[in-house]
Amino acid sequence: MKRIYFPEPFRIKSIEPLKMLTREEREQKIAAAGYNVFSLASQDVYIDLLTDSGTGAMSSDQWAGVMLGDESYAGADCYYHVQENAKEIFGLPYVQLVHQGRAAEKVLLPVLLQGKKYAIANMHFDTTRAHVELAGARAIDCTVPEALDTTKYYDFKGNMDVERLEEYIHELGAENIGVVIMTITNNSAGGQPVSVENIRKTRDVAHKYGIKFMIDAARYAENSYFVKQREPEFKNSTIQEIVRATFEGADCFTMSAKKDAIVNMGGLIGCRDKAVFELVKQRCISFEGFITYGGMSGRDIEALARGLKEGIDENYLRYRIGQMEYLAARLDEAGIAYQSPVGGHAVFVDAKKLLPHIPYYQFPAQALAIELYKEAGIRACDIGSYMLGNDPDTGKQLEADFEFTRLAIPRRVYTQSHLDVIADALINIKERAQEIKGYKIVEEPPILRHFTAKLAPLE
Ligand code: F0G
Repeated sequence: MKRIYFPEPFRIKSIEPLKMLTREEREQKIAAAGYNVFSLASQDVYIDLLTDSGTGAMSSDQWAGVMLGDESYAGADCYYHVQENAKEIFGLPYVQLVHQGRAAEKVLLPVLLQGKKYAIANMHFDTTRAHVELAGARAIDCTVPEALDTTKYYDFKGNMDVERLEEYIHELGAENIGVVIMTITNNSAGGQPVSVENIRKTRDVAHKYGIKFMIDAARYAENSYFVKQREPEFKNSTIQEIVRATFEGADCFTMSAKKDAIVNMGGLIGCRDKAVFELVKQRCISFEGFITYGGMSGRDIEALARGLKEGIDENYLRYRIGQMEYLAARLDEAGIAYQSPVGGHAVFVDAKKLLPHIPYYQFPAQALAIELYKEAGIRACDIGSYMLGNDPDTGKQLEADFEFTRLAIPRRVYTQSHLDVIADALINIKERAQEIKGYKIVEEPPILRHFTAKLAPLE
C-alpha cells in the first residue's frame, strides 16, 4: 500500500514502559472487569485509545513551564501568560480559566440559559447536554444529514444543518432559545470538521434572531487544519488566521484544554460581552476558585499557556491528522468501514458494518471494543446503543443512529508501529467476525450506565 507519511516533528526524550499481557491474561482481566473497559486497570492495557482528552504527551518546553509555574493565589505570572496567549489566539477580549471543559459548561451555560427553554447545537457533547439539562433547558442536535452515512464522502460532516436550525427557531420561538452552539470538531459525529462558511452562516442566523452564539472549542486547532485542507478560501491562510476567522463574531466559547492545548488538565471560557463575563467571574469564584487560577495549579496553567501555541503549529497538526489518515488508509485496504473521511482525533469504526449479525440491543460496538482488548490489549470504547442507554420513560433500550467503536488517538503518544498493531488487530477480528457474539447487561445504574455497568457474553 501507499504509505501516507507525515513524520513526527519531534523526537522522544522520555518513555513510559508498557506491560504486555498474554491473550489468556487479557481474557481473564476483561471478564473480571465485567466486560466493561472502564473497569480495566490502565496497567493492563497495551494501547489506550479510550480518549484523546488529557492523555497527550507534553513537550520539554511545557515541562520546563511546569517548574516555572507561579503558585500565588492571586495575580500569578502564569495567569498573565495564559491570558496573553488566549486573547492573541482567539481574539475575544475576556478569558476565564477553569479546570476542564465541563467546568466551563457548568459556569457559563446557566448564564446563557437563564429563563430559556432550549439550546441548539450541531451536536452537543455528553457533558454539554448534561449542563444544558441541569440548567433546566433541553438540548437539540441539528447536524447535517450527510453525517449519517458513514461511507459517503463529505468535506464537512460536522456542519450545522442551517436551514433546519432556522426552522427550529421558528417552531420553538427565538425568545425560548438561550444559545446556539457549534462544537468543533463535531466529536459525536466522528470528530468531523465544520467549515468556516457554516460557522458564519450559523452565527448570522443566531444573531438575526438575537440569540447568543457559542463555540465548544475542544478541538478548534484540528478543525482549523481541516479547513485549510478543504475550504478553498483558506488554502493559503495560516492556522492562526483560520482560528481568528472561526471565532469572529462568536459571543463566547467554552474549551476543554485537555485536547488541542495538549495538557493533562485545564479549560477556558471566552466572552465578548463584559456583562456576561462579570457573571462568569462570580460563578467561577464559587465553583472553581479565584479568577486568576480558576481551579488550576500554577504549574498546569503555565503548561496550558505554552500548549496553546504548540497546538496550532501546522507541522504538528499535519503529523496529528496524518496519524488518523494512516490508520484509515490501512482500514480502507482491508475493507473495514469507519466514519469516512476520518475525523481529527479518532477513527470511529462502524461496528454495525463489521458485526452485522449483532443487533443494537446486543451492543456490537461494545463487543468490538472487548474483542480489541482480547486481541491486542487495545482499549477503545463504545459510542453507540450501549452508551446511549434506556429510554427514561419506558426503560426500553434505545437504538443509536451509529454503532461506533471509537479509537481515540492521544496526542504525540503512540508511534506508527502502534498504529499498525491497531490496524492488524482489526483485520484479524474481521476475519473471524462471524464467531463474535453480542453481550447482555447484567447490572446497570440508572444514568450514565456505560461507565460502570457489568456485562456478560451471549451464547
Ligand atoms: N466538549 C467536547 C466536544 C468534548 O469532546 C469534551 C470531552 C468536553 C466538551 C468536556 O471536556 O472532559 O475537559 O470536561 N471529551 C472527552 C472525550 C471526554 O473523550 O471525547 P472535559
